[in-house]
Amino acid sequence: MNIILLGPPGAGKGTQARILVEQRGMVQLSTGDMLREARTSGTEMGKRVAEVMDKGHLVTDEIVIGLIRERLESGDATGGYIFDGFPRTLRQADALGKLLSEIGQDIEHVIEMQVDDEVLVARVSGRSTCASCGEVYHDVTKPIPADGKCTVCGSTTFTRRADDNAESLKTRLMAYYKQTSPLVGYYYYAHKLRMVDGLAEISEVSGQIAGFLDGPT
Ligand code: AP5
Ligand code: ZN
Repeated sequence: MNIILLGPPGAGKGTQARILVEQRGMVQLSTGDMLREARTSGTEMGKRVAEVMDKGHLVTDEIVIGLIRERLESGDATGGYIFDGFPRTLRQADALGKLLSEIGQDIEHVIEMQVDDEVLVARVSGRSTCASCGEVYHDVTKPIPADGKCTVCGSTTFTRRADDNAESLKTRLMAYYKQTSPLVGYYYYAHKLRMVDGLAEISEVSGQIAGFLDGPT
């Protein structure tokens, strides 16, 4: 089963994707993570990507579709893929549909995570990530344990994202509403859209998602 997690920056896509990986053995394909990896490569493409991401704009469709194509061509996800942060434009959605049909697969559920804008600001400004395993924390809602060690891997190094500042977030939100939100209608008419309350507690959101994954399609 392949699913898409759709939602604005800070909605909880990455958090829920990691839970699904752990609980169901699915494979997370996060274009944000792939691009952050590319920017550390020091290549010309990496430098261009870094500039665009830090400002909060979308990277070109060609680049992200290329990254997903590579992963789908080389991958074997028996537990299914979780597309996290992809697709983000109608062109990316069309490309994903084609790429999946080439390997005889499809998207079963598109989970839209609904969260108010004011909450998103608090979510991204309090976020930190384990530098070693990528576990996501929040200063208030999911604090790093008192001993300073990641609950998953024990590392003591945590990072904050360069684009998690008020100005970039404003641009990221605008990009979401302008370029990504049309996908809600696109998948609604394809009978794939399922909505969850992203304001609920992390475990409750997971329960809502599980309800769709385990229920009738
Ligand atoms: P990307 O990495 O995809 O970032 P994003 O979409 O902005 O989403 P975030 O990672 O910020 O949030 P999230 O929904 O994963 O929330 P999280 O679980 O971390 O993209 C970054 C950039 O890369 C883009 O701006 C663009 O430049 C580029 N890019 C990526 N994909 C692209 C594409 N397809 N096309 C073009 N460009 C692309 O949670 C946030 C915080 O809230 C955490 O601290 C977490 O602990 C906390 N939290 C989570 N859930 C809850 C909850 N239910 N209750 C309380 N707190 C919660
Ligand atoms: Zn860790």
